[in-house]
Amino acid sequence: MNTTLKENIDWVGYIDWTVRDFHGYKTESGSTYNAYLIRDEKCAVIDAVKAPFVGKYLDRIRALTDLDKIAYVVCNHAEPDHSGGLPGIMAACPQAALVCNAKCRETLEKHFDTSNWKWQVVEDGDEISLGRRTLSFINTPMVHWPESMFTYVKEEKLLFSMDAFGQHHASAFRFDDEEPLDVILHEAKAYYANIVMLYGRPIAQTMERAAQLEIEMIAPSHGVIWRSHLKEVFEAYQKWVVCKPTPKVIVLYATMWKATEKMAEAILEGAQECNVEARFYNVDTTHATSIVTEVLDCAAIAIGSPTLNNTLMPHMAGVLCYMKGLRPTNKQGFAFGSYGWSKRGGASEVEEAMKEMKIEIMREPLRAQYVPTPEMLEACREAGRQMGRYAEQFART
Ligand code: FEO
Repeated sequence: MNTTLKENIDWVGYIDWTVRDFHGYKTESGSTYNAYLIRDEKCAVIDAVKAPFVGKYLDRIRALTDLDKIAYVVCNHAEPDHSGGLPGIMAACPQAALVCNAKCRETLEKHFDTSNWKWQVVEDGDEISLGRRTLSFINTPMVHWPESMFTYVKEEKLLFSMDAFGQHHASAFRFDDEEPLDVILHEAKAYYANIVMLYGRPIAQTMERAAQLEIEMIAPSHGVIWRSHLKEVFEAYQKWVVCKPTPKVIVLYATMWKATEKMAEAILEGAQECNVEARFYNVDTTHATSIVTEVLDCAAIAIGSPTLNNTLMPHMAGVLCYMKGLRPTNKQGFAFGSYGWSKRGGASEVEEAMKEMKIEIMREPLRAQYVPTPEMLEACREAGRQMGRYAEQFART
């Protein structure tokens, strides 16, 4: 496995092949916690790994240098998937100062016993010379937490971007040109949608700052390192930060006795009469992670749930809660669903959730009592056509 980014700059992270849940994100292909070692007159380690893997991380560093030679451990982001190993490395490297911004120090002090740590608190724009190379620090608040920052090495045109441009993807390969680009970009899209979609504006601001740097390589804290396809991932991010719609519609539903499913099928039929990509998901069989990944670039979405005990079907409630938190923008849509003796919950509650998400409501909810009539199914088809016609106007990307 090639772990060398540049001469004397190496990956020293951990490949987590078996992780399948990352705070609710179903990580089908595992993840990596990337950390990097820069060997110079003074050595620096960029970021750490999850706590259970600190031993392997220290072994990788030890294989390249004495731990006594580590002068700096940089923490770009305090979330425990990157900071969990900090107590281990700070204990093992007696000469090292922990380099981070003030907000990060405050956050780390709330996570760990830091009483024995040496600190070097940096501000936006500060630099630390390692000898031949310089570390420059750029605050990137809310990408992904308030204390997040990038570390840039101008002599190497190398950006350590922590969560930004990352992918939850375990692989024997460390670089973007060692695997099919569509696989990597799909993982980057899933990561963006499920981790940082709600921070589109700060990410756009961060992208503007990054665009002013000369960058040959981006080393994120998850997944592969970008050295050949920077243009592609930058262009993708420019679309994702605004949830740019494409000619794609989604029909998402839960069902109890198949009535809402029949409505969903009719909506899909209508949408398929248009020149759009139509996707169809039952929340019982598709994880929220995949749904949110597809929602990122859809133009319109129809969401349905029957009424159960005056509210929603539980899996739909979970998906809507997850989606609301991630706040997809630039979408239109409508609610639908069947009911029995009470119209409370069901389609009304779905519509309420859609409004909270700022999805522009295209039409009133479609409601069928017990079983949809032929007339109701035709109304569903027409609503599907309406959604399809709306989505057709957007360019395929
Ligand atoms: Fe990979 Fe926000 O932590």
